[in-house]
Amino acid sequence: MSLDHAPARLPDHPVDPQFPARWSPRSFSEATVTEAEVLSVLEAARWAPSASNNQPARFVWGLRGDAGFQAILAALVPFNRDWAGKAAALIVVASRDVTVAADGKVNPNRWAAFDAGAAWMSLALQVQSMGLVAHAMGGFDIPALAAAVALPEAHSLHAVVAIGHQGPVENLPEGLRAREAPNQRNPLTASAFRGRF
Ligand SMILES: Cc1cc2nc3c(=O)[nH]c(=O)nc-3n(C[C@H](O)[C@H](O)[C@H](O)COP(=O)(O)O)c2cc1C
Repeated sequence: MSLDHAPARLPDHPVDPQFPARWSPRSFSEATVTEAEVLSVLEAARWAPSASNNQPARFVWGLRGDAGFQAILAALVPFNRDWAGKAAALIVVASRDVTVAADGKVNPNRWAAFDAGAAWMSLALQVQSMGLVAHAMGGFDIPALAAAVALPEAHSLHAVVAIGHQGPVENLPEGLRAREAPNQRNPLTASAFRGRF
């Protein structure tokens, strides 16, 4: 389904194959996903860890063909709208950025974005385990997406995730076809340090 000239993803150290195997295609087939499948994907996200088990991650989703999907799609930047419209579902990843203590005091939750990121990764790996693909996008118009999903106060938008069945490269606009392949990573030594930076 992807271009065959792409070099293999070779880990620097032994790792479960699901990690290098996951990548973010942009080409989707026409095949749909069911509400039950989306709920399984969101269920995986629900079990992600979070600071004090506050569970700040929030999701708003739509299936291709419904009004929610269209509203989310319309808030994407044109580059993303050009390919994500063929996805089977779009899932907005947001977070609630405050906690409310027992005495009613409202406190900022400075881990909300970190926890939403963990939830997105659980979601992505569940997608992969179901034989589907996921592609996160940060390219959206923030006020437009906030309006589209009726984002409450003290919440942030993080990403829109396109999910569906991977399609052939020909399903993409011509300008995107050459990029439809797994990419590489910097060496682990660029990001992980024993003891100190
Ligand atoms: C938070 C976030 C925002 C992203 N935004 C976009 C985007 O707007 N458009 C796009 O085509 N890909 C986007 N991507 C996909 C990344 O480019 C991709 O995950 C990265 O190149 C690594 O490739 P891989 O996911 O195939 O391993 C985004 C990914 C993340 C996690």
